[in-house]
Amino acid sequence: MSASPTWDPAVYARFGDERSRPFADLTARIGTRSPRHVVDLGCGPGTLTASLADRWPDAVVEGIDSSPAMVESAGPLSATRALLRIHRGDIRAWVPDDDVDVVVSNAALQWVPGHEHLLSRWLGQLAPGCWLGVQVPGNFDSPSHTLLRDLAGSARWHRRLDGVLRHADAVGSPEAYLDLLLGSGWQAEAWETTYLHVLEGDDPVLGWVRGTALRPVLDTLTDEEGAEFEAQYRLLLREAYPAGAHGTTFPFRRIFFVGRKP
Ligand SMILES: C[S@@+](CC[C@H](N)C(=O)[O-])C[C@H]1O[C@@H](n2cnc3c(N)ncnc32)[C@H](O)[C@@H]1O
Repeated sequence: MSASPTWDPAVYARFGDERSRPFADLTARIGTRSPRHVVDLGCGPGTLTASLADRWPDAVVEGIDSSPAMVESAGPLSATRALLRIHRGDIRAWVPDDDVDVVVSNAALQWVPGHEHLLSRWLGQLAPGCWLGVQVPGNFDSPSHTLLRDLAGSARWHRRLDGVLRHADAVGSPEAYLDLLLGSGWQAEAWETTYLHVLEGDDPVLGWVRGTALRPVLDTLTDEEGAEFEAQYRLLLREAYPAGAHGTTFPFRRIFFVGRKP
């Protein structure tokens, strides 16, 4: 499975409204009123991290992301919020400070192989009273991913793309995450939601995955190869996600879990 690819904040931002909805649904379940220190792991362009700073203006809100482009694009958000700090760092190396009262990670841990072990360590290290809220995509078996993997494994591409893409085991089941939290002595809930995004424009699902799942492929191939791959993938996506009278419906399952350490 690949590590995190290179990111393009502008391409990622194209579906900002759709991508922000799960974050809102996740953080709505975090019940604390006045945390001291909030950490957003894999914060990306920082737009959603900034919403945490607006919700808890007295807290130090720290966003951590390994992508230089994402962290750079977050600069202006920090400039207008005194206690918002967004910086480069690797989720795998993060160790919680004693004053951390909220940890959020939205759509990031699927890029971190073995993140269950990290979660287990954090659950032990975080202080009593701390909240943890995580959302990961649960759509690795949906056509956008299976078609991508099938194409990458085809005779034309498999030599170039072997081992580049993630599979369904990139994330756990809601039950497994819930068991992990409860088994660590946390109060916890877990749930899943399939959002039916209605996307506008031509080939919008291709536009969506260009911001995320397709990135490891584009990182690996030359520009010319990438264009050829995209042309083939585009046709498959058009068939799987046909445009309707009101746009293109793109079902997207997501997995959530939220806990509080007693
Ligand atoms: C799909 S984006 C999500 C960004 C943001 N949380 C959001 O919801 O908009 C995933 C982010 O995780 C970051 N990421 C992936 N692996 C990481 C790691 N090991 N350490 C830090 N950040 C990582 C990527 O750089 C990317 O910005």
